[in-house]
Amino acid sequence: MSSKRIMSGMRPTGRLHLGHYFGALSNWIKFQGQYQSFFSIVDWHALTTKFQNTREVEPNIWEIALDWLCVGIDPEVATVYVQSAVPEIAELHLLLSMFTPHNWVEREPTLKDMVKMLDSDESAAKEKVTYGLLGYPVLMASDILTFKGELVPVGKDQESHLEFARDVARRFNNFYNVDFFPEPKPEFTTTPLLKGVDGQKMGKSFNNDIKIADTEEDTIAKVKKAITDRTRIAKSDPGHTNLCEVPWPLYQIFASDKALLEKVKGDCESAAIGCVDCKVQLAGLINEYFRPMREKRKALAADPDQVRKIIAHGNQKARKVASQTLHDVREIMGMINW
Ligand code: TRP
Repeated sequence: MSSKRIMSGMRPTGRLHLGHYFGALSNWIKFQGQYQSFFSIVDWHALTTKFQNTREVEPNIWEIALDWLCVGIDPEVATVYVQSAVPEIAELHLLLSMFTPHNWVEREPTLKDMVKMLDSDESAAKEKVTYGLLGYPVLMASDILTFKGELVPVGKDQESHLEFARDVARRFNNFYNVDFFPEPKPEFTTTPLLKGVDGQKMGKSFNNDIKIADTEEDTIAKVKKAITDRTRIAKSDPGHTNLCEVPWPLYQIFASDKALLEKVKGDCESAAIGCVDCKVQLAGLINEYFRPMREKRKALAADPDQVRKIIAHGNQKARKVASQTLHDVREIMGMINW
């Protein structure tokens, strides 16, 4: 295993869906055997928008932990922890904030999008842009730099945050004349955006997602609603896989071999199978793929003590690394290490 460190995180905002799995988690699983991996459930980041509903955060920490563990994030190999259990991250956030120019945080493009999302009314939205939300990228930089992460697997939407983290790392090294923080590089996920059952990008808030934790029945019901070939009106009309919006792209992911794809295409284009039957067959493949993970999830969910222990152990491992970094940072900045 390389000594290079990889760091990534997710906000605990709910159960994860197939987009998270193919877009992020499957990469993390690949990386965890290659690099020293730090995977964080970033609950403080959730607070930046959930400050009035703080109690909604904790249950989602357990949901996300179950999702990660059941798909194969291995707590024996990777360090899996909760951000708020590592106070050193908050201390670094504070120290970084001292030399981060405020116009750096104000110009973050994602902040502008968030303001729009928080409230359609502009003045109401302004009130929701808290000091903490403004500090979102500083906190994310602390997440990464506390662990001296060099590679950060994230989606393309996080690009500006990563640039921000690099700028902050560089500024620290320049100001204190050290070569201490590596400049973290994004490792963009290459999986094409997964479409939800309505043909739009799969997303929790769009109500079009299939969750890792869904039951087999839920999965079948959801896939049955997926948009197919809009030009195929009657079952006896031949279909067109190239016009099939959701099931056919999903078949590319879930079909075990080319022969099956050929058969599905043939059956569709000769009208030997209708869209509903074809989707039920697809749901079967999805269920087969996730069955072992869902079974593992159920077993873990039935044993919350074990999950708590796994996370507590990860928190401990993370703190060990974090306290070393903060010890060094204090020394570099001339603070007292009491
Ligand atoms: N901002 C990230 C997101 O919304 C989550 C995140 C917080 C993160 N801290 C991080 C990702 C550190 C990677 C590294 O997806």
